[in-house]
Amino acid sequence: MAPSFLILLLLQSLHACTYSQRVNQTDSLLKWKTSLHYKSQTSLSSWVGDNPCSWVGITCDKARSITNLNLSSYGLKGTLHSLNFLAFPTLMELQLSDNSLYGTIPPSIGKLSQLRILYLDCNDFSGNIPSEIGLLTSLNLLSLYGNQLNGAIPKEMGILESLKNIDLSNNNLSGQIPSSIGNLKILCIFNLSINKLSGSIPHEVGMVGSLSKLDLSSNNLSGPIPTSIGNLKNLSILYLYQNKLSGSIPQEVGMLRSLTKLGLSRNNLSGPIPTSIGNLKILSSLFLWKNNLSGSIPQEVGMLGSLSNLDLSRNNLSGPIPTSIGNLKNLSILSLSGNKLSGSIPQEVGMLRSLSILSLSRNNLSGPIPTSIAFHSEIHSLTNIRHRNIVKLYGFCSNAEHSFLVCEFIERGSLRKILTNEEEAMDLNWIKRLNVIKGLANALCYMHHECSTPIIHQDISSNNVLLDLEYEAHVSNFGTARILKPNSSVRSLVAGTFGYIAPELAYTMEVNEKCDVYSFGVVTMEVLMGRHPSDLISALLSQLAPLPSSTPPNWRQMLIKDLIDPRLLVPTGEATVHVASTVRLALVCLQANPQYRPTMRQVSQALTSEWPPLPKPFSMITLEDLVGQDLSG
Ligand SMILES: *[C@@H]1O[C@H](CO)[C@@H](O)[C@H](O)[C@H]1NC(C)=O
Ligand SMILES: *[C@@H]1O[C@H](CO)[C@@H](O)[C@H](O)[C@H]1NC(C)=O
Ligand SMILES: *[C@@H]1O[C@H](CO)[C@@H](O)[C@H](O)[C@H]1NC(C)=O
Ligand SMILES: *[C@@H]1O[C@H](CO)[C@@H](O)[C@H](O)[C@H]1NC(C)=O
Ligand SMILES: *[C@@H]1O[C@H](CO)[C@@H](O)[C@H](O)[C@H]1NC(C)=O
Ligand SMILES: *[C@@H]1O[C@H](CO)[C@@H](O)[C@H](O)[C@H]1NC(C)=O
Ligand SMILES: *[C@@H]1O[C@H](CO)[C@@H](O)[C@H](O)[C@H]1NC(C)=O
Ligand SMILES: *[C@@H]1O[C@H](CO)[C@@H](O)[C@H](O)[C@H]1NC(C)=O
Ligand SMILES: *[C@@H]1O[C@H](CO)[C@@H](O)[C@H](O)[C@H]1NC(C)=O
Ligand SMILES: *[C@@H]1O[C@H](CO)[C@@H](O)[C@H](O)[C@H]1NC(C)=O
Ligand SMILES: *[C@@H]1O[C@H](CO)[C@@H](O)[C@H](O)[C@H]1NC(C)=O
Ligand SMILES: *[C@@H]1O[C@H](CO)[C@@H](O)[C@H](O)[C@H]1NC(C)=O
Repeated sequence: MAPSFLILLLLQSLHACTYSQRVNQTDSLLKWKTSLHYKSQTSLSSWVGDNPCSWVGITCDKARSITNLNLSSYGLKGTLHSLNFLAFPTLMELQLSDNSLYGTIPPSIGKLSQLRILYLDCNDFSGNIPSEIGLLTSLNLLSLYGNQLNGAIPKEMGILESLKNIDLSNNNLSGQIPSSIGNLKILCIFNLSINKLSGSIPHEVGMVGSLSKLDLSSNNLSGPIPTSIGNLKNLSILYLYQNKLSGSIPQEVGMLRSLTKLGLSRNNLSGPIPTSIGNLKILSSLFLWKNNLSGSIPQEVGMLGSLSNLDLSRNNLSGPIPTSIGNLKNLSILSLSGNKLSGSIPQEVGMLRSLSILSLSRNNLSGPIPTSIAFHSEIHSLTNIRHRNIVKLYGFCSNAEHSFLVCEFIERGSLRKILTNEEEAMDLNWIKRLNVIKGLANALCYMHHECSTPIIHQDISSNNVLLDLEYEAHVSNFGTARILKPNSSVRSLVAGTFGYIAPELAYTMEVNEKCDVYSFGVVTMEVLMGRHPSDLISALLSQLAPLPSSTPPNWRQMLIKDLIDPRLLVPTGEATVHVASTVRLALVCLQANPQYRPTMRQVSQALTSEWPPLPKPFSMITLEDLVGQDLSG
């Protein structure tokens, strides 16, 4: 045969080959397309004709064979079963992330022998990961996170020596982590978090020296942290938190010189914190909270010069807080709460200029908060308070420029703000207002009578009562609070907000619970009147004798219905009794002589007891009518 003929024949067969492949790819894609649901407006509707290389989401090589199929976020719903993977021998990238694809991953996916990149994350795939995945020997990246995959991780994954990135997180995978993973010599990212993997961490993980991120968090892993982990010289993130790991933290952790984040929280790790951690010069986060670590905090912690987050809370650590902590110039969060630390808080803590959150509650620390922290010593004790009507304090923040409490966020903001806003005030109907008063009374009753050492708030005002979405009251701002030591009368500079301070504080510096009772009375009247009751108060105070029997006539004859917030409709039904009785209670709390004021326990009980029926119709009741009835009524 002449050479030219030979070439022609060759060209013809080449053409035949690419042609038949294109047909197969076209057929396969169109067949799959008809099995899918997708929003008709999206570009899949452009998948017509016989040249898939021109279709959206598809890239071909020079021979017009598909190399890249990218349909991420196309709103596709369906399975992969009608997609004939045999038709795509040149496919290198398959990206179908963020759709609603479901069903199993077909074993035939193993036919994609050229595949480098496989993104099937954020779909609804279920069933096992097929072991045929082991046929994808060119695979660099395997992303299956955010599905509902079951069963074990196939050990065949260990054959895929080209893998650099494996993300199987957020599935329902169970069984053990295959030890074959130790074969993956260039693996950088290995994320198995949020699954149901159990058994221990295979020591072979320590053979993957290329690892930079290892995340096995939120599984059911038990046993010790393998010492082989010390080989992972390139590891920058190690997350093993929320498992059931036990034993002690191996000294080898100190060999992880590239580590920036170490998260071992919420396990069952015991023993001491290894001194070797002092070698982790670029560590920025160290989370060891909620374990069973014991012994004292090693001085070496002070060598972690890059640390910005240190959380050792909820362990069994004892001994003093090391003074070396003062070296952590970049520290922004220091949480040591819930341990058995003792001794005093070192002055060095106050040298932490970047500190924004300091939580030392629930320890056995003694002595004052150092002057360097420049904050009231009572505050950290208050972070123990748990009551539905008291804002939760998570700790306090203090540095050279700022001192503030870190507390729970209460959505609606202050009572003052709500009462001064026409619209919000009208939403705060009588039932809600009475409930706010009840909540405030409960909080103060708790602080005065139910804490091991009574707490006087000293600054109860409508600004410091916050309302949540349910209009439930939360007392906040303990900046001036005092803790009463038994038998001691606390002397202090007058604190509080003008307009809410008990009158006796003008001539005595002796603070007791009755100051809060007075302020409670002011806030209660403010809630009922819809504005600060300054005129009523000055009327009450213009007489020094026990009040309110000596209230000036004009006030005595004042109708309750004219006193209360005119922006709301006059209360009806049961609310009338409640409003009238609450006004009476507030007047008793506002008595000038602290001895005549009830305790918060009495107030709280009165507010939840059965009210006596009104002596006459609500619209006719005057302030005077309410005077003289005793609280127990
Ligand atoms: C195309 O598909 C047919 C059957 O549908 C198959 O016999 C043939 O081998 C395929 N050709 C190529 C090149 O894959
Ligand atoms: C795949 O498609 C998504 C959006 O459809 C796009 O954001 C992404 O860059 C594409 N990836 C590649 C490698 O083309
Ligand atoms: C691992 O995956 C989870 C869930 O998908 C993600 O939140 C986490 O950030 C990942 N871990 C790392 C180290 O990237
Ligand atoms: C998760 O896997 C377990 C078995 O390990 C199975 O009983 C459970 O139904 C699975 N849950 C989902 C949501 O697939
Ligand atoms: C560690 O990282 C460095 C720099 O990225 C790289 O040169 C080296 O090969 C890595 N080591 C391993 C064992 O992969
Ligand atoms: C967690 O692992 C333990 C064995 O360590 C096993 O007994 C238990 O069933 C596992 N729990 C779940 C929810 O998988
Ligand atoms: C915690 O670890 C200890 C051993 O240090 C073990 O005795 C105990 O059973 C473990 N607790 C849990 C809940 O796994
Ligand atoms: C904490 O660890 C100690 C050993 O240091 C062990 O005796 C104790 O049982 C552990 N406590 C818990 C709750 O696992
Ligand atoms: C401290 O934090 C700053 C700003 O985040 C950063 O630039 C600096 O490198 C950090 N210092 C150390 C020792 O990590
Ligand atoms: C805390 O540690 C002490 C030893 O320092 C040990 O006796 C005690 O059992 C531990 N407590 C718990 C709850 O594990
Ligand atoms: C608390 O610390 C004091 C010393 O400041 C010590 O006498 C006492 O035993 C400690 N209490 C506990 C429960 O560790
Ligand atoms: C407080 O005073 C009472 C009587 O005045 C006395 O019985 C009690 O022991 C005192 N408590 C303390 C802690 O001093």
